[in-house]
Amino acid sequence: MARKKIALIGAGQIGGTLAHLAALKDLGDVVLFDIVDGVPQGKALDLSQSGPVEGFDARVTGTSEYKDIEGADVVIVTAGVPRKPGMSRDDLLEINLKVMEQVGAGIAKYAPEAFVICITNPLDAMVWALQKFSGLPANKVVGMAGVLDSARFQHFIADELKVSVEDVTAFVLGGHGDTMVPLARYSTVAGIPLTDIVKMGWMSKERLEQIIQRTRDGGAEIVGLLKTGSAFYAPATSAIAMAESYLKDKKRVLPAAAFLNGEYGVSNTYVGVPIVIGAGGAEKIVEITLNSAEQKAFDKSVGAVEGLVEACKKIAPKLA
Ligand code: APR
Repeated sequence: MARKKIALIGAGQIGGTLAHLAALKDLGDVVLFDIVDGVPQGKALDLSQSGPVEGFDARVTGTSEYKDIEGADVVIVTAGVPRKPGMSRDDLLEINLKVMEQVGAGIAKYAPEAFVICITNPLDAMVWALQKFSGLPANKVVGMAGVLDSARFQHFIADELKVSVEDVTAFVLGGHGDTMVPLARYSTVAGIPLTDIVKMGWMSKERLEQIIQRTRDGGAEIVGLLKTGSAFYAPATSAIAMAESYLKDKKRVLPAAAFLNGEYGVSNTYVGVPIVIGAGGAEKIVEITLNSAEQKAFDKSVGAVEGLVEACKKIAPKLA
């Protein structure tokens, strides 16, 4: 069986890390694409030279031509600009929307059968625009945010309670922004909901609230420390988990920005919800029951995403 092909559009911080992880995990051959000539080629050569040490045979190549992504099974998009301190993800909208138009055209022409994972921010609006620009079926275009936001929540909980991250599950719904909705009731330590952890007295309600807020601000905390860019290790590893579930038909249940068509009372919008990822792409949207406070927070988050989508339509009327 021929190796799978993974195309990475954007060979910056996240793109390079994606290539490294994809090669280490033997997911397939990797093509790094970037408009800055030399960077994808240089990173590809460097990564290829790590192959003999790590023992991977994946071919890693770099390019500035879309034709080289031809036939990709998975395309992961990080093309665009990241945040600088003081910027919100939404500040990136105008410039990254133009990038999505170019990337969408490239994917439509050369990799129309691919499973596409968008990481570029502001995530929910960019994945919506990318699906429209590419014309690929909505179940084959998803956004990576929920796995990352959940991983941040898991890390903070495990660190607080001094337990293994392996025994913490976390659940984050909504848009990838300040309004995201980490759900304590559906997040657990060895199956015990965090709400019960509070009742048991293992963690105070105040501390849980602080951790939830730190999760919401997780990206900004890293931007503030790095100063010259945004997070890349955890975003890359999160997208690789999604790609792996597709390539191996694992059918993992992962939170992701998915196209909603009536689910959760939302239509024609991408927003973070749990989905099943398998060989069919986003195979199922898992609809959980929300209590009134959770529903209110979710609606607020959806409203924020819809505002960004409207802004996209103003900038690019053909999206309307
Ligand atoms: N086509 C292809 N690549 C592009 C284009 C384009 N039109 N415009 C920019 N790029 C490339 C840049 O040359 C750069 O190498 O995208 C890459 C982005 O890499 P970084 O600046 O290192 O950004 P990164 O940290 O990887 O984040 C990328 O993901 O999390 C989001 O907010 C983040 O939107 C940002 C994206």
